[in-house]
Amino acid sequence: MRKLLGLVGSARKNGNTEVLIKEALMAGEADGAEVGMIRLTDLDIKPCTGCMACVFKDSGCWIEDDMEWIFERMVEADGIVLGAPTYVLSPAGVIKMFTDRFLQFSTRLDKMRGKVGASIAVAGLPEWEAFAVPILNTCLLSYNLKLVGTLVAHAPGPGQILLDEKTVEQAKEIGKALAAGSKSAYHGFEGLCPACHTDLVRITEKGVVCPVCDAKAEIIIENGSVKVKYDEDTVVNHRWTEEKFEAHMENWIRRTEGMFKEKFAEIKALSQKYREYDRWIELP
Ligand SMILES: Cc1cc2nc3c(=O)[nH]c(=O)nc-3n(C[C@H](O)[C@H](O)[C@H](O)COP(=O)(O)O)c2cc1C
Repeated sequence: MRKLLGLVGSARKNGNTEVLIKEALMAGEADGAEVGMIRLTDLDIKPCTGCMACVFKDSGCWIEDDMEWIFERMVEADGIVLGAPTYVLSPAGVIKMFTDRFLQFSTRLDKMRGKVGASIAVAGLPEWEAFAVPILNTCLLSYNLKLVGTLVAHAPGPGQILLDEKTVEQAKEIGKALAAGSKSAYHGFEGLCPACHTDLVRITEKGVVCPVCDAKAEIIIENGSVKVKYDEDTVVNHRWTEEKFEAHMENWIRRTEGMFKEKFAEIKALSQKYREYDRWIELP
């Protein structure tokens, strides 16, 4: 039996994120899946300290909190729906804390191979949620999940989204897509980028790129309207694919240890005056 896991990124009980995740799980259950849910804000998720021991020593993470427990629940699941309210244009902070900690699993991401993920971004109103989908979908992709759906929902009050039948129906479809697994068609918010479904683009000296998955793109004007044309190869081989991410680990992240050690004496000498500069305000 397929297992679905709902990760609720809102502390608000019976809020819009919670009810939409429940709707998705109910649909998955109706299709034969076993389901369970976790409210991320009920757990102890501490900030990553950037020590890099998980990568350089492959030691897991020394921080004692609930992240290993959550990862075990994710490994047990076949499909994961991650939802969060939008706070100040981005998903609530717990999502970023949870995403940053993926690095401790970076040597174990093969355990997530073949699993599917979907996101539910809730906001009070349209056009005030620019970073909601990009950050939620970055989280799912960084944990090596294949995206099968994205839902963007708008309602301010807790449970108020239930008045919006179309959105509730879309949550149901997302649950069904998760229950169907990796062969499922993608459902919901298309965005622009075919890989990560974000609707943001970055204009750099090297050209136009998707900020989330690094797919290359071109901005074109067609019949007077602006379109973004993505390069098929970089869409398929985006930065969060297992191969591309492993190459990034090998060619950059793991090498930073040696690069730092090589220059350690110089860095230490340069940083001496900053280590001595002690203007920290006494904590409360
Ligand atoms: C601190 C805070 C910041 C918010 N910022 C935004 C925002 O930038 N854009 C927006 O559309 N809604 C914003 N909202 C509204 C919530 O996204 C909205 O109420 C949503 O339905 C909450 O989802 P929940 O019921 O699952 O908690 C904010 C709410 C709070 C409490």
